[in-house]
Amino acid sequence: MESTVTDIRDSIGAIRDYPKPGIIFRDITPLLQDPDAFRSAIKLLKQRYSQLGITQIAAIEARGFIFGSALAYAMGCGVTLLRKPGKLPGKVVSQSYQLEYGSDQLEMHENALTMNDRVLIVDDLLATGGTVIAANQLITSLGADVIEAAFVVSLPELGGEDKLQQAGVACYTLCQF
Ligand code: PRP
Ligand code: HPA
Repeated sequence: MESTVTDIRDSIGAIRDYPKPGIIFRDITPLLQDPDAFRSAIKLLKQRYSQLGITQIAAIEARGFIFGSALAYAMGCGVTLLRKPGKLPGKVVSQSYQLEYGSDQLEMHENALTMNDRVLIVDDLLATGGTVIAANQLITSLGADVIEAAFVVSLPELGGEDKLQQAGVACYTLCQF
């Protein structure tokens, strides 16, 4: 069966005080366990992006790998991994960034993309935008074009959409909380 965007939104869990007091953690694991919601989320993203000449989906570790891989398979394009530090075997470019609760770093292989690539960034969730801004910096530093950044969920109160707009990165989210 098809799920609507409302069904997809309803399949996302809310865990209070995780990982710190005061944070409501939006949990995509029930969405992944619901075959209709998962398939429909990928189908909606495919409808939006399949005619745009995307060559690579840049998927962000770890939850972005799930949606990014499924979408790349559906669209018939490649997957470029943006990983946490020390995970990639080849020479990397790195970028550190602030999170809602801490800081982290993303890396990608320095030869992963070229100026001929048209890249869609995919992650499960947009919060403060720090992660995707770092991803955009890495991808553009290799000369590739970022066409858009796509998320299943965004938390507009945390300012990620505004930050992306200021940075000139187009963004699309299936549902907001
Ligand atoms: C979460 C989420 C996004 C990022 C969003 O990942 O999956 O990648 O935070 O936050 P931001 O917009 O404030 O940067 P996390 O770093 O927790 O990694 P995980 O997917 O490995 O759990
Ligand atoms: N849910 C999942 N991942 C997150 C969240 C959240 O609410 N905030 C920052 N990363």
